[in-house]
Amino acid sequence: MKKLGWVRGYSDGDVDTNHMGSRTLESMAAERYSRRQTLLGSLQATAVAFLGTGLLAACDDDESKGGSPVVTAGQNAATNSGRIVTLTGNIAGTPAASAGWRQTGGPAVTLTASGNNASFIAPAVAAATPLVFAFEATGTNGLAGATTTTVTVNPAMLGFTAVEKNRADIITIPAGYSLKVMTALGDPIAAGVPAYRNNGTDTNFAQRIGDHGDALHYYGLSATGTRDDNSSTRGLLVQNHENISEQYLHPQGPTLVNGARPEGEAIKEIEAHGVSVTEYRDTGNRQWTYVQDSPFNRRITPNTPVVFHGPVRGSDLLKTAYSPGGTQGRGTINNCANGGTGWGTMLTCEENWAGYFRRDNTGAGTDNARRSARELTSLRRYGVNSTSGNNRWSTVQATNTTLFRRWDARATAASATEDFRNEPNQFGWVVELDPYDPTSVPRKRTTLGRLGHEGAWLGRLTPGQKVAVYTGDDSRREYLYKFVSDAAWSESDAQATDRLAMGDKYLDSGTLHVARFNPDGTGTWLPLVFGQVPNRPAVGAEPEYVFADQADILVNARLAADAVGATPMDRPEWTATNPVNGEIYLTLTNNNAAGRPITDTDAANPRHYNDLKGTSNQLGNPNGHIIRLREAGDNNAATTFSWDIYLFGADSAEADPANVNLSGLTAQNDFSSPDGLWFSRAQNPAGQVKPLLWIQTDDGAFTDRTNNQMLAALPGTVGDGGARTITNTGAGGATAQQGTIVGAAAGAATLKRFLTGPLECEITGVDSTPDGRTLFVGIQHPGEAGLPEAPSSNWPQSQGGNATGRPRSAVVAITKDDGGVIGL
Ligand code: FEO
Ligand code: CA
Ligand code: CA
Repeated sequence: MKKLGWVRGYSDGDVDTNHMGSRTLESMAAERYSRRQTLLGSLQATAVAFLGTGLLAACDDDESKGGSPVVTAGQNAATNSGRIVTLTGNIAGTPAASAGWRQTGGPAVTLTASGNNASFIAPAVAAATPLVFAFEATGTNGLAGATTTTVTVNPAMLGFTAVEKNRADIITIPAGYSLKVMTALGDPIAAGVPAYRNNGTDTNFAQRIGDHGDALHYYGLSATGTRDDNSSTRGLLVQNHENISEQYLHPQGPTLVNGARPEGEAIKEIEAHGVSVTEYRDTGNRQWTYVQDSPFNRRITPNTPVVFHGPVRGSDLLKTAYSPGGTQGRGTINNCANGGTGWGTMLTCEENWAGYFRRDNTGAGTDNARRSARELTSLRRYGVNSTSGNNRWSTVQATNTTLFRRWDARATAASATEDFRNEPNQFGWVVELDPYDPTSVPRKRTTLGRLGHEGAWLGRLTPGQKVAVYTGDDSRREYLYKFVSDAAWSESDAQATDRLAMGDKYLDSGTLHVARFNPDGTGTWLPLVFGQVPNRPAVGAEPEYVFADQADILVNARLAADAVGATPMDRPEWTATNPVNGEIYLTLTNNNAAGRPITDTDAANPRHYNDLKGTSNQLGNPNGHIIRLREAGDNNAATTFSWDIYLFGADSAEADPANVNLSGLTAQNDFSSPDGLWFSRAQNPAGQVKPLLWIQTDDGAFTDRTNNQMLAALPGTVGDGGARTITNTGAGGATAQQGTIVGAAAGAATLKRFLTGPLECEITGVDSTPDGRTLFVGIQHPGEAGLPEAPSSNWPQSQGGNATGRPRSAVVAITKDDGGVIGL
């Protein structure tokens, strides 16, 4: 038998290989094309159907041997980037000893063989691009036959039918997609930890999945358990656990006994916060499971030792009875959004930490008397003003431990190293952790400033350019910040083995900036550098604040941002970076009339209107918007930028199209309160050429019409719309004009609802495998308003049809039934 050079599934796309001796495959293909001029045109399908087409006699045809195999392939077809294409080969006549597909033209793809078929994922393209494939067979008589087919790949488009708004107690996803609940509150992540009973009796949350899963990130692992950024079959799912639904953590909800929280209850609640690292594995064809006893599994809780890095390390402002040197700390809390670093670590961000601490702000005790005026200004500016702390953890009566007393931030002793008055200064940071090293100590990167940090997403990493990190401070009228490293990015650092040392290099020295948005669509990054930042002027009864040093500027970054004249925003949430053009997107989730009256609109926060919820007025900007910016010269270190408003949330059924529904939303894509924001990974077609943007909502304004949701978008670029003047309407019918910069309107081709969540949840946290074929999505606090005896959601049990039991936050893995890239 003639030995041929190809095998089944041969996939290198080599068009120069001559398997036939005297005749090349190209010449055979050319002959074939000449006979295929009349074949049907494009066929829009993800699977190319077999429709008998012309035959091509092989080079050694010899009737005495019974002829070569008669091979046929599918007809020419068209598809879009990211979709699965199946090439269907067929053999008749002489039985084949071997047969297979190989690529003979167009951008190389990886063919996966299955019998006489082969499949591939259509690559990213900017314009219609033909890919040519040959199906070749050798008969048992040694004679060969071959034929080709052409698949034209068109640019990516949203490839699903929009999900309708609904208030069902399940996740709803488009037809053709499936989901699996992966890890939920309480799931054991260490050997020997019992399954979660979910009745309030479970303990040991330091070895269970925490509550209120928020941002998540997938870190690939090779088959041997080493870091592999391209692995889509095994990885570490790192998830923040922002907060708790404490009513479901105990048999009958939280209790207070003689004014004190029981220690066991407080331990559970504390340990249910933080971060989890859990190994996920694909057991075949994207059937995912988690590995309970993986050595990589880890919980980082508010009790886990951490270390401070950067200019604030060792500052008096960080010194406590636990950390007299101001260099050490315990844990992280209220971890909201995140950022991947490009060197294999994760940034986890401390958002609403202020409320956990007890203070005496009545002036009756020693707290205020033992603090300076500057300390008191700082505490007020950051809202550290609870007289009990969120969960009253400091009331626990426990001996020989400061684990609970630390939540009492009153100045009760003679000095700061004898009490925990400075414990609030130990929170509000961006924390870097190495998911691949379960023994590593997380590092708080103080150079990025102390805020109500929502997230920390890096700008595009460009060799030779400095590294930028964009962080939103989520409170009404807070700011957008950018950190710029001193060091320029070196690609060789991406795979360094000491990952946290790379964090030291890029995140410990640099300059924090804050954004000012000008009315003309330009903006300025204002450096927060000691000596350049003026005193923060007196405001009302608040005295002038004089900065002491750079550590003071970073601990009190909000005061420094006030001082330089940054633009107050409508609650800055996640940032996301377009991996292709480097543009930065920022969700501004909402604001109300008290937070921003109609007289305080500006070009970047332009709308003031009423959105009825049932019959209740919601005045202000209850639906939020998404702003985006492009750095001058596409340089991370730029001090100026251009901006526009990419998208405005609105209730399409009632919003005034001229002044409120400025993006032209429809029933298929209307939304409110954007929060989570993430561009698909650049490693697959969803993140290439024109990347897919995922938008998640954390909304209370639109919940009369739908549960929270996730949309997929194909955004344009900064400046694709234009200037607009709108008329705002406030209480009592007052009106005001406001100019702004509006991006191109959305349409069905560029924005669609992909998913809705169960009752009372927010959708938060999203990442994919590098191949884009599995999407991990977080569902946070379903049934958050319910009671232990009367849960207001039964998710995730309800997803399987069981409408009983307490709700649990969870991660789901979403796959496309045909194996294509999610969303395309
Ligand atoms: Fe934790 Fe601003 O969301
Ligand atoms: Ca409404
Ligand atoms: Ca959020």
